[in-house]
Amino acid sequence: MAKKNRELTEVLLSEQKKYYPSKKVLANANVKDYEKTLKKAEKNPEAFWAEAAEDLVWFKKWDKILDKSKKPFYKWFTNAKFNLAYNALDRHIDEGNGKKLAIIWEDESGRTRKYTYQKLYNEVNQFVNALRGLGVKKGDRVAIYMPNVPEIAIAMLSCLKIGAMHSVVYAGFSSGALEGRIKDARAKILITADGSFRRGKVINLKAIADEAVKKCGSIKKVIVVKNNEEKVAFNKEKDVWYHNLIKNQPIEAKIAEMDSEDPAFVLYTSGTTSKPKGVIHAHGGYAVGVLRTIKWVFDLKGDEIFWCTADPGWITGHSYIIYGPLMAGITTVMYEGVPDMPKPDRIWKVVEKYKVNVLYTAPTLIRAMMRYGKEWPMKHKMPSLRILGSVGEPINPEAWKWYYINVGKKRCPIMDTWWQTETGMNMITPLPCAPLKAGSATKPFPGIIADVVDKKGKRVPAGKGGYLVIKNQWPAMIRTIFNNPERYLKTYWKQVKGAYFAGDVAFRDKDGYFWIQGRTDDVLNIAGHRIGTAEVESAFVSHKTVVEAGVIGVPDEIRAEVIKAFVILKKGVKESDELKVELKKQVRKVLGPIAIIKDVAFVDKLPKTRSGKIMRRVLKAKELNLPLGDTSSLV
Ligand code: WTA
Repeated sequence: MAKKNRELTEVLLSEQKKYYPSKKVLANANVKDYEKTLKKAEKNPEAFWAEAAEDLVWFKKWDKILDKSKKPFYKWFTNAKFNLAYNALDRHIDEGNGKKLAIIWEDESGRTRKYTYQKLYNEVNQFVNALRGLGVKKGDRVAIYMPNVPEIAIAMLSCLKIGAMHSVVYAGFSSGALEGRIKDARAKILITADGSFRRGKVINLKAIADEAVKKCGSIKKVIVVKNNEEKVAFNKEKDVWYHNLIKNQPIEAKIAEMDSEDPAFVLYTSGTTSKPKGVIHAHGGYAVGVLRTIKWVFDLKGDEIFWCTADPGWITGHSYIIYGPLMAGITTVMYEGVPDMPKPDRIWKVVEKYKVNVLYTAPTLIRAMMRYGKEWPMKHKMPSLRILGSVGEPINPEAWKWYYINVGKKRCPIMDTWWQTETGMNMITPLPCAPLKAGSATKPFPGIIADVVDKKGKRVPAGKGGYLVIKNQWPAMIRTIFNNPERYLKTYWKQVKGAYFAGDVAFRDKDGYFWIQGRTDDVLNIAGHRIGTAEVESAFVSHKTVVEAGVIGVPDEIRAEVIKAFVILKKGVKESDELKVELKKQVRKVLGPIAIIKDVAFVDKLPKTRSGKIMRRVLKAKELNLPLGDTSSLV
């Protein structure tokens, strides 16, 4: 935490300096007058979003922009007929843009593939027909567990065209995590690949998927995309190769006319219990929010090469690798593999090679690149870059400046976008025309009313920390938690009256700029990935030697946070370094490689409240030499 405090001082010192857009950036900006645009949207957010909705194609227009009658189960664009996939794909064919490049894909080893909108359209339709042949219908759930390859986009779009909901599970998750998500969604079909690449090694995804499928009765078929030459186990009854399935299928398919409020997909994210939440997004509103934000935040004109380095398995990938760029009709870059192979300038090489105009990445990656040194980006001119983006965690001013100087060459404004799986779209973010401050996500996007409040919902003064809330509604907002509306109410709407509770702490400065400081709840942010302490603890307890575990996040230079665990062993079990290694392995097995454990400590007791809850705050304070705070509930 010493580091966190230093950063806060750094933030307060650097706060004074503003970075203004160049004349060139301003001349090209979709929004030129920042304050005026914010004010106008704030006066009438619904009118703002209705205007944004005009950028999309509706089969039938809405009766009402926003229906609050069953709040907080808000509805947007009621009774409209719409399909997100139509707007991301079919529309471009109908408008004669089939020849435009939709996807550029490259992997670590240098293989590349390109898809025009026409080619993408044809293959999606073939897959739609194949899926319908397997009995996939409107409202069904389809699980997708795939690497960052074009077929993941094809699979997602195909589900939507049918009106089925996809549930993408990040390919870095373990079989246990996949199993839990398949079961919760009761998915009918699983789409996976034989393998993915990481640092030159093939990861046998199919084997991991099989482990999960064995325990999931709902899965009728497993569709396997061939991504490498490795042999994989194949179950003749259940498994089918993707390429065989789409062969001979017609390249036209009917699209389902969905209600604007029909769920488009479910995406699981970590919360405060060991069970992840299935966040539901709806066709119409999600499309409106994502398209308007990508166009304005990244200043799209329609011919950009856009590279978001996230994985499609996270919301960032859903909104800004797949749906955002495709709805905007631009070219999205997909890269499969690690960013420093074969050398630490791979990212900059890809930017140069494909003339990337917008690079949208995460602070953890920037910090990793900083460690290699500025000589790597400096080797590459990258004149194509216009705008840079950051997402996933607060960007420390040091990393911000490094990115600004060495990657953007002081020419490209950095869009530090704060948002969440639940918000669907960028929420607090600058626009290219805005004056920037290194490390601040600046102000809410037009039409969004955000605030920093105390527990009672009262605004706290500038410079004081508090809870980040959103006081109005926005079209891409979460609609509910799959099969668990009570949890939706409790998590987001019962904490602060009348506002959406984000679960982050933040403060505003005297200019009204937001500085996000991190989560308030028991959710860790490891290298920009959300993971619940309860999930990690339950993974520890799944080992036969463990009685109980308490975990906390401790600062890490590159990944922001990593895990430190306090473990109580069963009576008679001997403490040893080998056991620590085994426990780390166990957690990786249960949760996947994103659960990075720095250290395991064996203890006899854990600090608890009278009601038996582990007080992680106390563990953290001791570990990091912080003040203990209020310990009145400590036993
Ligand atoms: C954090 C990722 C500060 C925050 C899009 C949030 C950020 C959580 C930023 C959501 C940012 C994301 N500045 N913090 N620019 N972006 N966060 O659901 O704690 O994977 O609540 O969505 O990431 O993570 P999620």
